[in-house]
Amino acid sequence: MRRKIIAGNWKMNKTPSETIKLINELKPLVVTEDADVVFCVPAISLTTAIEAAKGSNIEIGAENMYFEESGAFTGEIAPNMLTDIGVKYVIIGHSERREYFAESDVTVNKKVLKAFEHGITPIICCGESLTQREQGVTIDFIRQQIKIAFLNITADQAKTAVIAYEPIWAIGTGKVATTEQAQEVCKAIRDCIAEIYDDATAAAIRIQYGGSVTAASAAELFSQPDIDGGLVGGASLKPDFGKIVNYK
Ligand code: PGA
Repeated sequence: MRRKIIAGNWKMNKTPSETIKLINELKPLVVTEDADVVFCVPAISLTTAIEAAKGSNIEIGAENMYFEESGAFTGEIAPNMLTDIGVKYVIIGHSERREYFAESDVTVNKKVLKAFEHGITPIICCGESLTQREQGVTIDFIRQQIKIAFLNITADQAKTAVIAYEPIWAIGTGKVATTEQAQEVCKAIRDCIAEIYDDATAAAIRIQYGGSVTAASAAELFSQPDIDGGLVGGASLKPDFGKIVNYK
């Protein structure tokens, strides 16, 4: 049985002092025995968030990191900077990073490799555009993203990875994928992992759905056989996130 994982993606929201306030507000609401709960916050608030979440079931994740150890990469965050302060997860290859910051499948793969090297669990994002969906190439496109993201990743590493399927047309638009659409792609991702590795790896890896998840849609989405939780943007900044975590 895979354990659910429900992660908030705060994106570029909340200052460090607002972070303390929001974590204190959400802490009692996100208590659960049934799922891993992760708050992915802006880099500047990571230390503050870790302090604020102490003693709770909330784990803190980063929204990005670089694939080099150190050096002349102005503005970037190295993996050991994250582990040094206790960061456990990192979102990699979010569609906003691919679109606005020119991240590619190849850089995603480099970051995934680095995350594993440092014992950080990557939340690897994939997802098609509206055009791709309308042209019927969704599954082909996602399979390509997954196959490149997992290049040179071992089966043991892959088993602990998290994949977030986030159709771009559903992110921040209020337009949630139907349960059937989300399940279909999450299953295709699991089949692709089985092809790359084996059935045991496919059965172990956790696959989230993301894109306009709300308290109203969480229960149906998260009870699909291949959906192991969600990556939640907008709704993770509100008390509603407690309802999403406790969706049952
Ligand atoms: P949303 O964002 O829930 O606001 O659509 C999801 C995401 O981008 O991770």
